[in-house]
Amino acid sequence: MAIGFHVTCLILIGMMGAGKTTIGRELAKRRGVRFVDCDHEIIARTGVTIPTIFEIEGEAGFRRRETQVIDELTRESDIIIATGGGAVLDEKNREMLMQRGIVVYLNVAPQILWERTRNDRNRPLLNVENPRARIEELYAVRDPLYRQVADIIVDGGRCNPNSMVRQIEKVLP
Ligand code: S3P
Repeated sequence: MAIGFHVTCLILIGMMGAGKTTIGRELAKRRGVRFVDCDHEIIARTGVTIPTIFEIEGEAGFRRRETQVIDELTRESDIIIATGGGAVLDEKNREMLMQRGIVVYLNVAPQILWERTRNDRNRPLLNVENPRARIEELYAVRDPLYRQVADIIVDGGRCNPNSMVRQIEKVLP
């Protein structure tokens, strides 16, 4: 994949609802490489949903599985990886992301993230009384971490996935 000398792994990061899966899949199709979504990989390996993993093993158990999957996938070549929104919380994960691939942060404002995720029951962290406030809190903590590991920042705003894909392709080496 022509995404940089020696670097053949492209990693998408950003909040829940930022569009990492949709954009990653489209980019991979256009570049003719494999696409893997970390959450889907965890679901395939365990045979249960993300909420079930949170229920049985707690967030800590889910995070251990997430780190394992990130560690394995970021060693591969010719691959586009969509990480879960919380992947950057762990310092070891941040190191792996920075060292092993080109990292693209899909930055989308909390208001839009809330609109996109409000009817979704598959994200345990948003299963709270006030998901809108929760998204703002998570964004405030995570935005600096996403920026810390990102090579490229794409501002999503209200633009559609195709225009985000084009923005990313324009800046890829
Ligand atoms: C999480 C995001 C989810 C999933 C899990 C935790 C987070 O992935 O990994 O529910 O901490 O932001 P998406 O970002 O793909 O929704």
